Amino acid sequence: MPFAAPPSPPLRSFLPRHQLFFLLQNQRLLARQSTNLPRTMLLVFIIAGLGAVTLLVVLFGPHIRNFAAGAVCKSPACLDGKTVLITGANTGIGKETARDLAIRGARVIMACRDVAKGEEAAASIRAAYSKAQVEVRELDLADTCSIRSFAQEFLRDVDRLHILINNAGVMMCPYTKTIDGFEMHIGVNHLGHFLLTSLLVGLMKRSAPARIVVVSSLAHNFGWVRFHDLHSQGSYNSGLAYCQSKLANVIFARELARRLKGTNVTVNSVHPGTVNSDLTRHSTLMTIFMTVFSMWLKTPREGAQTSIYCAVAEELHSVSGKHFSDCAPAFVAPQGRSEETARRLWDVSCELLGIEWH
Ligand SMILES: NC(=O)c1ccc[n+]([C@@H]2O[C@H](COP(=O)([O-])OP(=O)(O)OC[C@H]3O[C@@H](n4cnc5c(N)ncnc54)[C@H](OP(=O)(O)O)[C@@H]3O)[C@@H](O)[C@H]2O)c1
Repeated sequence: MPFAAPPSPPLRSFLPRHQLFFLLQNQRLLARQSTNLPRTMLLVFIIAGLGAVTLLVVLFGPHIRNFAAGAVCKSPACLDGKTVLITGANTGIGKETARDLAIRGARVIMACRDVAKGEEAAASIRAAYSKAQVEVRELDLADTCSIRSFAQEFLRDVDRLHILINNAGVMMCPYTKTIDGFEMHIGVNHLGHFLLTSLLVGLMKRSAPARIVVVSSLAHNFGWVRFHDLHSQGSYNSGLAYCQSKLANVIFARELARRLKGTNVTVNSVHPGTVNSDLTRHSTLMTIFMTVFSMWLKTPREGAQTSIYCAVAEELHSVSGKHFSDCAPAFVAPQGRSEETARRLWDVSCELLGIEWH
């Protein structure tokens, strides 16, 4: 038979009651200390890490801010007697672009889908600069009827248009369609502006020299035009839908520049930088990211600089079909340079909108 050790009698059976109490207390204390040690170390590391980050931010904060701010439009151009139209001008980059161009003396028409928000923005511009000639008109780029009636009234009331800034945009919204059944990103960011520009380009030619600025994004690099499913009905990813629409902006600007050669109306697209604005309103994750890293991001005023530069810089008077970022020429993704894709997108856009634009 194998040897089996006799079971040891429980401590309780041979230790006096008070000694047993102290022994158990000691054991509990030791156990608590051994589990607390890594936790204490972790806490020390977290506090030290936070301290180091705070120190770095305090020491390098001003440099980080300067770097994040990007380039500034240094042109002193005066816009007395010029008329400017900016879409989505009630907030963010659009509002700051409107403010700057109004200070330069232009009559600025702020095209906003929410007139009350637009009037608030116009009032704040007038409060900062009493001579500002800013006015608000209703335009919903998600509705072709609204675009047509906006253009009709505009052509009736305004006899010159020197600068058009296609700025309004939506990003990463849940799958929704415009009134006309287009997926929201491609519908507002590309098709809405395509229709608006087609309706106003005649006036711009008559007002030449004139400039069109299309606000695109670095995100165009990650997009491709899905001709087989432009409205993402097969599968939808809000980030990719945004990238596709921003790529369409770049392609449209280049193709329109080609078609407007010789008219003295130039067209350029811009990437404003990563700007702390309301654009991320549909994505909680992006909003948290923007809040945490706000020091590393541009303010809307800083984000407006490249649009302003393309609208006024003297040296760009005959530059057309280019892409800009930080007030300098910028890289265009290969899929944004394809002439075949540009012609195809042009034809598809005309077909979807039921227009002829040669
Ligand atoms: N922020 C960035 O980091 C960043 C980076 C690259 C490119 N961009 C581009 O910069 C442009 C301006 O963006 P932002 O940062 O200034 O964003 P924002 O503060 O959200 O401004 C977007 C503007 O577009 C308007 N808009 C949206 N849907 C519209 C519609 N259906 N009809 C008419 N107006 C409409 C908005 O009006 P409501 O206020 O009524 O919604 C708002 O005025 C966009 O084209 C965006 O894609 C921004």
